[in-house]
Amino acid sequence: MIVLGIESSCDETGVALYENGRGLLSHSLYSQAEMHAQYGGVVPELASRDHIKRAIPLIDKLLKDSDLTAEDIGGVAYTAGPGLMGALMVGASIGRSLAYAWGVPAVAVHHMEGHLLAPLLEERVPEFPFIALLVSGGHTLLIRVDGVGEYIELGESIDDAAGEAFDKTAKLLGLGYPGGPALSALAESGNPARFKFPRPMVDRPGLDFSFSGLKTAARNALQKNSIDGEFDKELAADIARAFEDAVADTLSLKCRRALRETGLRRLVVAGGVSANSRIRSTLTEMVAKEQGELFFPRLEFCTDNGAMIAFAGALRLAAGEESPLSIQPKARWSLADL
Ligand code: KG4
Ligand code: ZN
Repeated sequence: MIVLGIESSCDETGVALYENGRGLLSHSLYSQAEMHAQYGGVVPELASRDHIKRAIPLIDKLLKDSDLTAEDIGGVAYTAGPGLMGALMVGASIGRSLAYAWGVPAVAVHHMEGHLLAPLLEERVPEFPFIALLVSGGHTLLIRVDGVGEYIELGESIDDAAGEAFDKTAKLLGLGYPGGPALSALAESGNPARFKFPRPMVDRPGLDFSFSGLKTAARNALQKNSIDGEFDKELAADIARAFEDAVADTLSLKCRRALRETGLRRLVVAGGVSANSRIRSTLTEMVAKEQGELFFPRLEFCTDNGAMIAFAGALRLAAGEESPLSIQPKARWSLADL
């Protein structure tokens, strides 16, 4: 069965076609980042309106480019949350309506389950059970995954999500939106020895995270070293590097603790922040030392995309799941509720 997946939870319209047994057939993405950049962040109403404009033409082109027609589609998966309510409504309405018109089942997909399963789209697939670190703009989660839909939350951020901390710190340093990739690029030229930021909550037991203190550390370093509120690129780069190192170390330490406490050997890392190269290399080193195995999605499937939604939806449809005719997008939705 070929499944059409639609992602529209934030500022990316993603569409994809996935077929159980054959794999990912095609995918395409439209990013609204440029439109939101002038406002310094995502403007929810503009996001919803843009999804309306992009989704149908993207689906149309995806089918044409894949030499397929609506008749070839056996099911539709759409992101139903968590995310921006208006943006979710668009993808859900379009996905549900298409499925109805085509006479095929539809399934509502949890955005974070999409991220979590994205590494399974790669050639080297992690076997269950594994530990998943999900790091995105809205969430930082450590999860024990025993199978599709079998998720036990081990830890989460008690304040800012990792991506949110990247974005806020980037703003502080005068970088544009989206801040994560810009901060990471700036950190490349930073001196790692100039500032040492705290590794929040690592000396306490447990697997929760806290990132808002790092943002404060960055602000303090900036204020202390600025002259009349002015700062040069070198200072910003050194702060960016200290921030990135602190996030990478903290994530790595908590992942190591999760592996040791559960006795599991496989770690899966996904979500927008997993595109960060320093975080990837820090985790790679840690997992090698632990003699474990590490799995990432390819870079383009770390951040939001339609492929992960088509994939998660295809698995759920194959398991006999189906969502009703009414749509019920949820801005907040815990993975543990699945
Ligand atoms: O998963 P995602 O695309 O959307 C959400 O579900 O939130 O994640 C977006 C987040 C943003 O906060 C963005 O700044 C961050 O991922 N991000 C990065 C990098 N690429 C994206 N953060 C650090 N380094 C990167 N290379
Ligand atoms: Zn996401």
